[in-house]
Parts: sequence; C-alpha cells; structure tokens
Amino acid sequence: MNKSLDDSQHTFPTTTGEGSESDASSISESSSASTTASWSDTELMEPHVGYKKVLVTGGAGFIGSHVADYLLERGDDVVIIDELNEYYDVTIKESNLRLLTEKYGEERVAIYRGDICDATLMTELFEKERPQWVCHMAARAGVRPSIEDPFVYIHSNIQGTTQLMELAHRYGVQNFVFASSSSVYGGSKSTFFSEDEVVDNPVSPYAASKKTCELLAYTYHHLYKLNVTGLRFFTVYGPRGRPDMAPFKFIDRVSRGAEIQQFGDGSSSRDYTYISDIVDGVVRSIDRPYAYQIFNLGKGDGTSLREFISLVEKHTGKAANRKILPDQPGDVPYTCADVRKAQHLLGYTSKVSFEDGIAKTARWYRQTYMKNKVEVLPQVEAPTTTIQLEATQAC
Ligand SMILES: NC(=O)c1ccc[n+]([C@@H]2O[C@H](COP(=O)([O-])OP(=O)(O)OC[C@H]3O[C@@H](n4cnc5c(N)ncnc54)[C@H](O)[C@@H]3O)[C@@H](O)[C@H]2O)c1
Repeated sequence: MNKSLDDSQHTFPTTTGEGSESDASSISESSSASTTASWSDTELMEPHVGYKKVLVTGGAGFIGSHVADYLLERGDDVVIIDELNEYYDVTIKESNLRLLTEKYGEERVAIYRGDICDATLMTELFEKERPQWVCHMAARAGVRPSIEDPFVYIHSNIQGTTQLMELAHRYGVQNFVFASSSSVYGGSKSTFFSEDEVVDNPVSPYAASKKTCELLAYTYHHLYKLNVTGLRFFTVYGPRGRPDMAPFKFIDRVSRGAEIQQFGDGSSSRDYTYISDIVDGVVRSIDRPYAYQIFNLGKGDGTSLREFISLVEKHTGKAANRKILPDQPGDVPYTCADVRKAQHLLGYTSKVSFEDGIAKTARWYRQTYMKNKVEVLPQVEAPTTTIQLEATQAC
C-alpha cells in the first residue's frame, strides 16, 4: 500500500564571512525562488500518492539507506547506486544494503555499485530502470577532509550532481531531490539560519560544493523545467549513523571509556536532527515536485554541548572522561535551523526530542553495533582534531 506523508542543523561557523549587497545580487535570480516573500505565497503542492520507482543515490550510506527503507516499506521500489567508497568502514555500507535486500527482496531493490560520474554506467542504469523520481544523497561528506583533498569533493559532489541532473532531464524525471547541507551557512554570522540568507561565503570546499549544487539545480530547473528541491540537512544522527560525526563518536567513546574533549563551559548550542525526522522531510519533498525550492531540515532548536554530553552519559550508563579546553576562537554560542519554510510548504515538523534520539542511538550502539565492532575503526579516530570541531563541521 502506497501512502504519502500528508498527515502530518548545524553548521557551526568557525570563521566569519562578509556578506554584502553585491554578493546578494550575484545570485538574485536563483535565490529569488526561496525568499520569504515568494515562499509564503507559493501555492501548496498536494503530495503525489501512488507507486514510485525511486533512484536513491548513496543508498548504502546513512541517510540514503534509511530513506530507501522507508520507501520500500510503504510500497515503492528502489534503485540504488553507490560506489561504497572508504570514507568510512565499507562493511557498514555493505550491511546497510544487506538489510534492505534481506527485508524486501532483490527484485524490489536493484543495486548498482559504481561512481555516479561514470556516464556509461549511469546511462545504462537510466535506460534499464527508467526511474521517474530521484533522491540524490550520494556525496563526499565532511568538512575537514574536503580541505585536505578538495578534488574528490569537486568530482563526486559537483560533477556527480551535474551528471545526475543531465540524465534526469533527458529521461523526464518528475522530481529531483538532493542533499545540500547546513554547511552552506558556514560564513554566516546569524544564529538562526534561514533559507533567505545569502550564502555566498562558503568556508570549505565541501560547503562550496553544496552551494554549487544548489546553483546548478536552479540552472537545470531554468533550462529544462526540471523540478528540483535541495535539502539543507542539519547534523543528522541515529542508528547506523556516520562514525565520523559527533553523536556516534560521543556514544562510542563514552561507552568505551575513551576521552572526549569539551571546549569552553559547554554552553554553546547546536541543532541535531534525528534520522526519522530527516527521512520524513526527504520523503515529503520527493512526494511534492515543487519547481525549485531549497529547504532547511533540522530539529529547529538547539542543544548545548553540556546537555549533549550529560545525555550521552545517561543513556550509555557511563561517566564521560572529558578534557576541558578553552573556547575555540570564532565559535558562536548558538546556531539553529529555521524550519518555518519546510513546515509551511512540506508540512514538516521534527518529532523526536534530542533525549529520545540519543536514547535510541545508544540502544542501537549497544544492541547492534557493539556486538559486531568492539574496536573503533582507525580511520574514524580523530586524534588531531577536536570533538567540537567534528560536532560542528562534519556534516
Ligand atoms: N549526515 C549529516 O549530518 C549530513 C548533513 C548535511 C548534509 N548531508 C548530506 O546528506 C547526504 C547523505 O549523507 P550521509 O550522512 O548519509 O553520508 P554517507 O557518507 O553515509 O552516504 C553517502 C554515500 O554516497 C556514496 N558516494 C559518495 N560519492 C559517490 C560517488 N561518486 N558515486 C557513488 N556513490 C558515492 C558513499 O559511498 C556513501 O555510501 C550527503 O550528500 C551529505 O553531504 C549529511
């Protein structure tokens, strides 16, 4: 039975950008589609109800595999393309795919292993599968690694997204939804991030790649009338979450008695979004083929670092071994997603409190992850950086 969802983050700037009128005018056409004036007047779109075959790129990853699970559960079929790269432990991605095929059967989950930039492979995929709906989650994620190796981000994020939009318009895709990121706000001085802000000051190659995708998306909408929605996720966490991100790392390290670093007095606050809320927002976007929109998807309120650590202690049953360090220069005390636009146009509201989300994630870590992986993986250790930097930037 197919149903729609009609019932119903954070970038943490570490440097500041200098927004200006001339910056604003340079994207005036693209940003005009998401100004408050335009979105509050935009006609609400009725959700498409009925069977869909959805191409989920990055479907072996954290968010993609959860979206695929939801779509399959409600009766859609899913085609996955993922290169299963080694940004983090590949066995986690293989296990995400296995979970889907064991639960729904290989006839409902077509899996292609390869690079979204591979034109031959991608054309074959579109020719054979003819997906009419695209949920594009594949990307190189992570802020700091993008500074170390920008080229892989330009390749997967910019070339990959262009490749997909090119095929999407050639094969008449009805709706193209893609993952942007709250990191586009990285140069902002605000604490409450709204889609209306001019975000022309990305402070990392990762953020710049996501902003570029938003601009290209507008171009494909403008040239070919491709329906495109970009989603700026605010730090997503939950079961099967990325091991390079703070919620997983805190739970992992505190459970194992490893040291975590706390910067400042712990009062700085960030917006963390539980995976089921993100899936809800993604599926609402897939079901509503708006012409061109950018949405924030976050919880919409912040949690202090102090509260975060104490909830991890409570739900792992272990005391955190914390090293308190001075505040990081440039850190802002409070950052949070403004989700009013997503509420208005998608009917999105986050439902999972941070405490419930941490409790569920800690339970998953204990009952599922710990059984298989006792040692933390070397490539996800971050000895040279700070937990707070990870918490604020690794999205
Ligand atoms: N997790 C977060 O907090 C967060 C926050 C903001 C934005 N995002 C964005 O959401 C999307 C999903 O993030 P995630 O946390 O699930 O990350 P993830 O790393 O778990 O998933 C991404 C998947 O894409 C695949 N991939 C990368 N490049 C590819 C390529 N060239 N060809 C084929 N497959 C490729 C990877 O192998 C991986 O399985 C990404 O676009 C990310 O930038 C995530």
